[in-house]
Amino acid sequence: MNKIHAAITAVGGYVPDYVLTNRELETIIDTTDEWIRTRTGILERRILKGADQGTSVMGIKAVQQILEKKSLDPADVDLLICATTTPDMQFPATANLIAAECGMVNSFSYDINAACSGFLYALTTGAQFIENGRCKKVIVVGGDKMSSIMDYEDRATCIIFGDGAGAVLLEADDSGHGIIDSILKSDGNGWKHLHQKAGGSRRPATAETVANKEHFVYQEGQTVFKFAVTNMADVAAQIMDRNQLSGEDVAWLVPHQANKRIIDATAQRMNVPEDRVMLNIMKYGNTTNGTLPLCLWEYEKQLKKGDNLVLAAFGGGFTWGSTYIKWAY
Ligand code: UT7
Repeated sequence: MNKIHAAITAVGGYVPDYVLTNRELETIIDTTDEWIRTRTGILERRILKGADQGTSVMGIKAVQQILEKKSLDPADVDLLICATTTPDMQFPATANLIAAECGMVNSFSYDINAACSGFLYALTTGAQFIENGRCKKVIVVGGDKMSSIMDYEDRATCIIFGDGAGAVLLEADDSGHGIIDSILKSDGNGWKHLHQKAGGSRRPATAETVANKEHFVYQEGQTVFKFAVTNMADVAAQIMDRNQLSGEDVAWLVPHQANKRIIDATAQRMNVPEDRVMLNIMKYGNTTNGTLPLCLWEYEKQLKKGDNLVLAAFGGGFTWGSTYIKWAY
């Protein structure tokens, strides 16, 4: 019998309507459109506005698209995993909220938090349930409302992040397509350089932590940049090596969208030309867990069965990883 792989068989995505342009940021912080473009490649990002609107709102829309596209009865979904760093609440899991709202009455669901690498962690985890036969249909969501933890006075950080969510459906494939290989890495020593200081069990929320702005993203940009450039390129090169893929064999690099300069360095290392690199950073900035599924969502029409995709990410933790997919449709 042929090996069973978990194949992505549908993609959904959602970004909020509100567009926060570099020009508008110029009116909020001491920055320029030119600085942001040249240092990051970002022109604008989306922001989820309105009261009581959490990450689940965007995840639900992305999942509903998949259900509609595939005429899928939500009762037939076995598992929903949500990768997010900005859950609606500390608990319950945002995945529980999405699954319930989408009518997945027979599923179990949980969140995974691996910051910007979370979607790859969730994809790999979801794939195991397909490969071992425990589940037939798994939905993996990646999404974040980064604006909810952003200090719009911290000009080095707030310019890169935005809101959005994407989702993929995983089903079994025995024809050699699907998720072929995955490398996941983490090093918790990196926490100091990228984290949220308060709101967790170590420093629960108090009036003081709020006044000190400890509920926002704390990022040492340059340090994170250095680790990201090296590790994202290394892990992508490693997965290519062990699957005997050259740059020419890679139809698409699907990189985490944190900074265009990190993406360029990774593509260069892999020997993949720019026209085969998925990019949405210009429009959406860094949507953390949303970047990779949103790339797949936007480029879906350009993908062909059998295309080799290499996904790569780096983020808080530190976490990083790469996944090799042979596209299934
Ligand atoms: O997705 C998860 C992982 N995150 C990442 O991968 C992000 C990695 N880091 C980065 O992408 C970059 O470090 C940033 C885009 C966040 C920042 O860019 P940078 O080139 O590393 O800037 P910097 O923080 O080293 O600051 C350089 C200079 C400073 O001025 P001085 O001290 O040289 O006079 C900053 O004050 O640029 C200044 N600066 C700005 N100037 C205009 C910082 N932010 C801005 C700004 N507009 N928005």
